[in-house]
Parts: sequence; C-alpha cells; structure tokens
Amino acid sequence: MSTNHQVLLEVDGLRKYFPIQKGFLRRTVAHIKAVDNVSLQIQRGEVLGVVGESGCGKTTLGRCLVRVYEPTGGQAILHTDSQDLTLDDLNGEQMRLFRRSVQMIFQDPFASLNPRMNVLETVGEPLRVNGIAKGRELEERVSQVIQQVGLRVEHLRRYPHSFSGGQRQRIGIARALVVHPKLVIADEPVSALDVSIQAQILNLLKDLQERQELTYLFVSHNMAVIRYISDRIAVMYAGKLVELGPKQTLLRHPKHPYTELLLAAVPRTIDRQQRIITAGEPPDLARLPSGCVFRTRCKYAQARCAEEEPQLQELESGHFVSCHFAADLSLGGVVPRVQSFAA
Ligand SMILES: Nc1ncnc2c1ncn2[C@@H]1O[C@H](COP(=O)(O)OP(=O)(O)OP(=O)(O)O)[C@@H](O)[C@H]1O
Ligand code: SF4
Ligand SMILES: [Mg+2]
Repeated sequence: MSTNHQVLLEVDGLRKYFPIQKGFLRRTVAHIKAVDNVSLQIQRGEVLGVVGESGCGKTTLGRCLVRVYEPTGGQAILHTDSQDLTLDDLNGEQMRLFRRSVQMIFQDPFASLNPRMNVLETVGEPLRVNGIAKGRELEERVSQVIQQVGLRVEHLRRYPHSFSGGQRQRIGIARALVVHPKLVIADEPVSALDVSIQAQILNLLKDLQERQELTYLFVSHNMAVIRYISDRIAVMYAGKLVELGPKQTLLRHPKHPYTELLLAAVPRTIDRQQRIITAGEPPDLARLPSGCVFRTRCKYAQARCAEEEPQLQELESGHFVSCHFAADLSLGGVVPRVQSFAA
C-alpha cells in the first residue's frame, strides 16, 4: 500500500460478486461478477471519471466504496489527515469519520430525496445523524451550504415536490457537502436531468470541487460528460478496469480497443439521449468469455486473447491498460477540445 500523501483513496483488487440463486433451496448456481479485481488510486483534489456501458459495474464500485455494499474481496484504504481507514476494518469512531469523509451524490434526484422531509431536514440529516451539529448551528450550516449550491434560504422549509429536477439535484449535492467530505462519489449526477440543466449542474460541481478542494470519483456512461469534468479517466468493461490514464493521454492515444470504440461514439455536446452505441453487446457477467472479456467484440482479437486473460499493466507513466497487444496497436483517439457548458 502507498505511503504517498497525495493518494486519498487506494483500491486494491476490489471484487463484488452477486450470487444467482435457484430452486427451492436457493442454491447458488453462479455469480454476477459486477466488480472484478479493480485496483486504482484516487489522488487528492482530482476528478477521476469512471466510464463504461450500462451494467459494467460503475454503480456497484461506488456503492462498495461508500460501504452500501459489502465487497466480496479486495481492499480499500482512505487516507485521512489523522489516520488511514481500512474499509473492512473500522471501529465505531472510525466508521463515523469515514462516513463524514466520503459522501455520495445519486443519479435520480426524484427517487433519492424523502418526500416527507423539507430541505432543512434533508440537508441537515447527515449533521444530526453523525452528531456534528444540531439546533441553530445545524440550521446555519444548512443555510450556508444551500446558498453555495445556488438555492436560497427561503427554500429551507419547502418539500422536494415543489422543486424542479435541477433544484432537487442541488439539494442532493448540498446534503453530500454539508459534512465537508474529502471524497465525493458522484454516480451519474446529471443523467436524469434535461440537457440545459445538466450543464448548470456540471458547472456547479466543477466550481465546488475547485473552491472546496474536493476529490471526486465521477461515474457516467456518457463520455462527453466524463471528458468535460475529469482529470483522469478510468474505463470499465464487464466489471473490470480495462484502461486508466490522464485525460489528455487517454483521449488522444487510447491503448485499449474498447476505449477506442467508446471514443468513436462521443457526441459533440452533452446529450441526454446519448447512450454509448457500440458494435455488439457486453457479455453476461455470470458467464464471461475465457481470456479477455472484451474479445467477443474486439476487432483486434487473436488466438491468445481466448486463452489468456490480460492483466492491467502500466504501459507508460500513469497509463494503465489490460490488453495483450496494447503496445503494438495503433488506435484512434480524439482531439480534446475545450468545452464550455455554461448555461
Ligand atoms: N443488488 C444487486 N443484486 C444483483 N445484481 C446486481 C445488483 N446490483 C447490480 N447488479 C448487477 O451488477 C451488474 C453491474 O451493475 P451496476 O448497476 O453496477 O452497473 P452500472 O455500470 O452502474 O450500469 P448503469 O450505467 O446502467 O447504471 C449488472 O449486471 C447488474 O444487474
Ligand atoms: S486482449 Fe485481445 S481481445 Fe482483449 S482487447 Fe486486447 S486485442 Fe482485444
Ligand atoms: Mg449505474
């Protein structure tokens, strides 16, 4: 494990397998390998974008990291200012510190807010539950954070139904930020919003990240969004990390055939309807192909790809790829353009 103080979160060989049970006795007949041996590091103050098609394990990875799911195996360590927190070995006090340090923003601002709680109760809940603030102090902290996300103090006593989708997502962001987390896991935070609102929320997230020196693990199926917000990009396919690198390098010079395929489908602007459209379908996570999981769609596949599983290897400094032929292939990238999503 790293002693590098720049590293905030270290993930090592993380796995999450969901059992498939059948019959009267509910015997486990197979496993869905939603996250399979994922290792990565998140640096302090960076935005690490995680991209991949629907069902590749992005949400499951995020949920394992906030302890909503118990990982099947592997490890994650959060390096806080005061101590290192090993996720599967936290005592009560460490769990409270962990919950304050890592917060999640969810995809659906309609489903993720309790309709019976007003803004003050919703945003103040993490402060109350974690024993951080109550009464007047709690209200002051909530007032402060909702203004930071572009809402007004008059909104405090209003209920979710009276807000638009974009405003609801602002409430969700305020709820995540009110405890002053170090790491924010944002799971498709703009996917459920209209295109014009997506731009506003993305810009807000970027602004907050810069001003508050936050670190994001930013999950999206939309390469245009990932390209806009990220410093580094991690590409997932069928539960595995297949490529990881600095944004410019990965976009200009992808080294994994799947990344090349994703980049070929990037739209010019953020488009809510945009889905990653690529040839073929991802494999069944309970019946993965032998060797390389991408080989059933890979136009560069050779005999070795069916026989041997490629491992994630550092091809150049900070650029990791899992493909037997990564060093030899000449793949097409994109020229990263400066994009503005000003609303
Ligand atoms: N609680 C669960 N029980 C069983 N299988 C699950 C569970 N959660 C996720 N899965 C399965 O794990 C795989 C990965 O799902 P996950 O939601 O992590 O994908 P995703 O990349 O977030 O997809 P999307 O882009 O559609 O949100 C899928 O095959 C999914 O059906
Ligand atoms: S290992 Fe083979 S199948 Fe897999 S991505 Fe590389 S070339 Fe394609
Ligand atoms: Mg998801």
